[in-house]
Amino acid sequence: MMLFSEAATIQLDTVDSTNNYAANLLKLSRVPEGTVITALEQTHGRGQRGANWSSAIGENLLCSVVLYPVYIKPENQYSLIRMIALAVHSFVEELTQMDVYIKWPNDIVVSNKKVAGILIETAVADNKIQNAIVGIGLNINQQQFDQPNATSIGILTKDYFDLDKCRELLLKHIERYYIKLLSGGDDKLKEEYVSNLYNLNISRNYLYKGAIVEAKVIGVEASGRLRLMKQDGELFDCDFKEIALIWDR
Ligand code: BTN
Repeated sequence: MMLFSEAATIQLDTVDSTNNYAANLLKLSRVPEGTVITALEQTHGRGQRGANWSSAIGENLLCSVVLYPVYIKPENQYSLIRMIALAVHSFVEELTQMDVYIKWPNDIVVSNKKVAGILIETAVADNKIQNAIVGIGLNINQQQFDQPNATSIGILTKDYFDLDKCRELLLKHIERYYIKLLSGGDDKLKEEYVSNLYNLNISRNYLYKGAIVEAKVIGVEASGRLRLMKQDGELFDCDFKEIALIWDR
């Protein structure tokens, strides 16, 4: 089954943010599902928690993929996040042949460093997800980062990659996982997602409600909240804005 056969790729040199470009495009027309916007450079690349996403010009994959996941109820948005995280995860696994983890909710981590980030923006109306702009920043060839906990596939493998080929391969992984989700595979995806979680059953320090708490990730709630266990066995769960890992390696 092919989903993205009609889709085009819009390749830009410079843009504020490929997610913004996709949002503006969607105001003008209903582009085919799977349409990708890529750029060599973003002047206002956006990350999670209102952060900015910086990337050396022409070295990494910066793209936004347009989906119309109308069959996913807005309250199940987490299935979409999970599906995309798994797709990027399997792409990174294929390229690196290393152990790749998903840092909840959707960062991709290899060797304790972040190699990709995802920013999904959805438009909801009539109790349906009308469209989703799936923004993916994948560090491919960049060799140096200001952030100590960032890395690239090039650093990990000591190889150089063609960005067009990477984009095509990434799209195949997204299409494959999207089909799994649409054909009722959400429970399997849930299992696959949890089994690949970064720090699963490993004690780490987190910043939680203003204090440092040592805890183990033990799973994810149906709602998407992260479930953890403190040293003394106490269980708690939290959403994305309430917790941050303290990177210490
Ligand atoms: C994160 O904070 O981890 C998410 C980063 C998402 C970055 C990508 S790069 C392509 C797309 N356009 C953006 O402005 N952001 C996303």
